[in-house]
Amino acid sequence: MTSPSPITTATAAIPNRKKLFIRTWGCQMNVYDSTRMADVLAPLGYGPAETPEEADMVILNTCHIREKASEKVFSDLGRLRLLKNEKEAAGQKMVLAVAGCVAQAEGAEITARAPWVDIVLGPQTYHRLPEMVARASRAAGAQIDTDFPVEQKFDLLPEVSANQGPIAFLTIQEGCDKFCSFCVVPYTRGAEFSRPVAAILAEAKRLVAGGAREIALLGQNVNAWHGEAPDGSSWTLSRLLYELAEIDGLARLRYTTSHPRDMDDALIGAHGRIPALMPFLHLPVQSGSDKMLAAMNRQHKAELFFRTADKLREARPDMALSSDFIVGHPGETDADHAATMALVEKVGFALAYSFKYSSRPGTPAAGQPLQVAEAVKDARLQELQALLRQQQDDFNRACVGRECEILFTGPGRHPGQVAGRTPWLQPVHVMAPAHWAGRLGKVRIDAAHPNSLSATLLSEKELATA
Ligand code: SAH
Ligand code: SF4
Ligand code: F3S
Repeated sequence: MTSPSPITTATAAIPNRKKLFIRTWGCQMNVYDSTRMADVLAPLGYGPAETPEEADMVILNTCHIREKASEKVFSDLGRLRLLKNEKEAAGQKMVLAVAGCVAQAEGAEITARAPWVDIVLGPQTYHRLPEMVARASRAAGAQIDTDFPVEQKFDLLPEVSANQGPIAFLTIQEGCDKFCSFCVVPYTRGAEFSRPVAAILAEAKRLVAGGAREIALLGQNVNAWHGEAPDGSSWTLSRLLYELAEIDGLARLRYTTSHPRDMDDALIGAHGRIPALMPFLHLPVQSGSDKMLAAMNRQHKAELFFRTADKLREARPDMALSSDFIVGHPGETDADHAATMALVEKVGFALAYSFKYSSRPGTPAAGQPLQVAEAVKDARLQELQALLRQQQDDFNRACVGRECEILFTGPGRHPGQVAGRTPWLQPVHVMAPAHWAGRLGKVRIDAAHPNSLSATLLSEKELATA
């Protein structure tokens, strides 16, 4: 799941002498990584900046997944060059760093096209950031580090800053060995790696102590996680979820993103047995055509997806699904597209992200014959998005009149409102006192708007658990 627009990261507050601005594109793992980069720079005296203009250091945490996403980085770098020049003319310094998946994939191109960049670092070397900042202030020219080092960054990063608000992210798995034909992730994030159980539990407890009520476990292939337990045995994700659900004060658990092939029965069953595990799952399928699933190297057929959706709904009847789709992968015909439409009709999604296939240098699909014409991709995307939009609206409208538990997260859109999230991840706005942020409450959904719901608080009392 990728975010459509840049997210700015609020960094942890410490006695600040210098200011840091991080702009984040891409998936939630990048959002998590941005908080970790802020953590690693905090001991050097960097605190949060609201804008690049007031910052002594700017980090662009980039995404390479589609061409459009990586091109945005270069337009941002053009604007930052002007800012850097202005600052230098006024006798100030600004360190400019490019991190994330574009840095990993195009390190040399960045320094060639934008020689005013001071630091280029890939996702596996964030623990080396302080050393690179020190070197950048001494030496001219860009510092580049796009290694896949043998040392593990998770072992070397400082403890996660505890206070991340009511909803916190926790990366448990990184990298991918699946090599889908279209995807850059195995190249930018490297081989699959699972963090050990003890490190995950310690980080989760720290987040909960800092006020998290909901934790979203992250991984490019999160349901392939298999971590070493303290007794030397190997746990799978379902076992980890049972353990996390025992943490006092933690009311909600999610995990994203999963691959359909790794949804084993123990994990599906956990959805019926762990009340804290929210009834919403992001399960990208990409296509409904078996021929395209094979061409994409997804290593399963549409039938597996249907079976998995059914089993999930059996385990947890209020389960809602979201997914990702790609239209116009090389070789996709009208009949293949029709199979995708049929899959969507059959399964029904509460939310979905759909993309036009974007050819990525170095991936197997990029060199394939039978590339689909842009106009055909446009038409297929429009048709698919109309159906997905209708399903999302239907799902939201079906929630009207329902009572449900929500986690309040912060100020709402209008004065007097507090925003929250339903179990199905929908944003909700409720008239409630501001101090409800961080609490769980029962509401009745009153209305469904295009991208959010509004609701009435039913009880003055906080719920003990979700
Ligand atoms: N396993 C991760 C993949 C991250 S990429 C996950 O499922 O979240 C997120 C989505 O971007 C993918 O599911 C896919 O739908 C889309 N995507 C990846 N590569 C793409 C490409 N070359 N063109 C268009 N969409 C792509
Ligand atoms: Fe990319 Fe496929 Fe791995 Fe997801 S499973 S990160 S789409 S290669
Ligand atoms: Fe983008 Fe890298 Fe995430 S390519 S989607 S930021 S893993």
